Amino acid sequence: MSTDPRPIGVFDSGIGGLSVVKHCARMLPHERFVYLGDTARVPYGNKSAETVQTYSAQCAAFLLSHDVKMIIVACNTASALALDMLRASVWVPVVGMIEPAARSAAATTSNGHIGVIGTRATIASDSYARAITHAAGERRIDVHSRPCPLFVPLVEEGWLDSPATRLIAEEYLRPLVANGIDTLVLGCTHYPLLMPVLSDMLPGVTLIDCGSCAAEEARTLLGVEQTPPTAATQIDLYVTDHTPAFTMLARQFLGMPIDEPVRVSVDNLQLPSVR
Ligand code: DGL
Repeated sequence: MSTDPRPIGVFDSGIGGLSVVKHCARMLPHERFVYLGDTARVPYGNKSAETVQTYSAQCAAFLLSHDVKMIIVACNTASALALDMLRASVWVPVVGMIEPAARSAAATTSNGHIGVIGTRATIASDSYARAITHAAGERRIDVHSRPCPLFVPLVEEGWLDSPATRLIAEEYLRPLVANGIDTLVLGCTHYPLLMPVLSDMLPGVTLIDCGSCAAEEARTLLGVEQTPPTAATQIDLYVTDHTPAFTMLARQFLGMPIDEPVRVSVDNLQLPSVR
């Protein structure tokens, strides 16, 4: 455990970031987490950069009010559109989804063809392509990107391996397969739940789970060794809207039972005060 007893703050546009917390809990089992899911304003993936930046700043301010020692932006869209702004405006380390997954993808590919899938906003930002090119250094890597917006509602509907999911996935992935990708970045927090069906449909393609890469990055930044998991990592869960479906979905994303969330009103979310 790190010697700093303060919790780690994590936020996402909604529930998907719990797929990142799942890896954090495994790699940092002795840490305490404060999670904010902006469920009242989800999805971020089809909103403008300006709106996503305002929402992200408010989520970060909420976490800072809980005296967190680090913020994990467990949302690819917010990482793509708001990470630089957050890093410039808050005083704790900020871990995003894109750089760690980009480094892992660049290190994984053998043939230099990497696929990236994500929300419309993430793909339109070109953040993954830039980060992968940067991570590749001198080596030439071709990045083939595709927005897959229908995956988010399919996952929230629990259609993780239905014929409809396979049909839509085939349509989305066909051009990436035609480009000969050997590595695919799942650049959205919902997509790891589709991992079994995607790996079945993409034999020989390595799937990169951005949550696992970000958790590893957080562990490195905190300078802690990996320790065996404990029975219960403490996660204080906050949401900006609460519906009955939330708790059931939350368990699915997190892979373990979780307490009922506390609701915070978006009207009470402030912007971070500059230090
Ligand atoms: N959490 C978002 C992401 O990873 C997906 C859901 C949304 O569009 O807000 O990009």
